[in-house]
Amino acid sequence: MVQAQVWNLAKHFDGFPDDSNFELKVEELPEPRDGEVLLEAVFLSVDPYMRLVSCFSLNEGDVMIGTQVARVIQSNNSAFPVGTHVVASCGWRTHTVCDGKGLTTLMADWPQNVPMSLALGAIGMPGLTALYGIEEVLGLQEGDTLLVNAAAGAVGSVVGQIAKIKGCKVVGSAGSDAKVAFVKELGFDEAFNYKTVGSLEEALRKASPDGYDCYFDNVGGPFTTAALQQMKNFGRIAVCGSISMYNDSTPQTGPYPYLTMIFKQIKMEGFMETRWEHKNPESLKRLMGWINEGKLQGREHITKGFENMPAAFIGVLKGQNIGKAIVSV
Ligand SMILES: NC(=O)c1ccc[n+]([C@@H]2O[C@H](COP(=O)([O-])OP(=O)(O)OC[C@H]3O[C@@H](n4cnc5c(N)ncnc54)[C@H](OP(=O)(O)O)[C@@H]3O)[C@@H](O)[C@H]2O)c1
Repeated sequence: MVQAQVWNLAKHFDGFPDDSNFELKVEELPEPRDGEVLLEAVFLSVDPYMRLVSCFSLNEGDVMIGTQVARVIQSNNSAFPVGTHVVASCGWRTHTVCDGKGLTTLMADWPQNVPMSLALGAIGMPGLTALYGIEEVLGLQEGDTLLVNAAAGAVGSVVGQIAKIKGCKVVGSAGSDAKVAFVKELGFDEAFNYKTVGSLEEALRKASPDGYDCYFDNVGGPFTTAALQQMKNFGRIAVCGSISMYNDSTPQTGPYPYLTMIFKQIKMEGFMETRWEHKNPESLKRLMGWINEGKLQGREHITKGFENMPAAFIGVLKGQNIGKAIVSV
């Protein structure tokens, strides 16, 4: 009999999450039946979307949502022999019995020197988000100037690197001097700490006096109000996230963007990376190719210990991570 440790949503978030929102439980798991496998979590992802999605997809007492890289440790399903590594959306759990539906086996030729945790980061959902936002939404062209915020994070750091691969000028905004130094090491042309610049408008103008062709928005709120003013005519904006608003109990209001959008004839499109799921196998190979060629770095912020899942998650919302936030079991 295997025991699983499981983090439940003890009570819905109201404002900024804290430890009282989570509860650690132990579950006795049944033996896997025909067609089923037993998974053991190796790496778990903590992501901003968990703050948002839990509000409407979970009831209090449900297991927290999330993906993990897991190893098959018992198998009655020939598609997933013992020892296979999969990406599984089974939530914040150390062990899971499941029938194999929705499991994605890691690329067959995953190189030994590439950490498997990247399947939750640069060669996983955040990397795909960066790629699809750039190619499918922005249609980024060589020579464009691109602005990205939360630039040192899982998505933002990949956005900037892909834009450099495509021959663009890249400006990043991030919340600490260490993050700014990190994105400059990645090859960003300009970067600034949005928490310490006196004026966002001036920082944006100084970084690109001619304005921006493209803006990959992870943050929303007042940052976007300032960025809109610095867009070039016919600028394109990919609305990927709005993390500056996720913990608000009272929704933020205006200033409203309409006049700027009209006069600058800006195109703004929200997206979810799942729209291009059918392209994932080919896209993941491209991301892995860039990693192998040394053109893409998948920096990670690893927290050790399943017991630290809530702390790691809250850390992301506090901006404590550089690169993809991961929990290793
Ligand atoms: N549309 C999609 O399909 C999709 C998929 C994945 C992610 N996303 C979105 O993309 C964004 C980035 O996600 P990620 O996984 O890459 O996370 P991440 O950037 O690795 O971590 C979140 C970062 O957001 C910044 N942040 C936190 N609170 C903030 C606030 N109040 N104001 C401004 N910045 C704040 C922090 O960086 P600083 O220190 O720089 O502030 C923090 O490190 C999120 O908005 C997420 O919801 C969307």
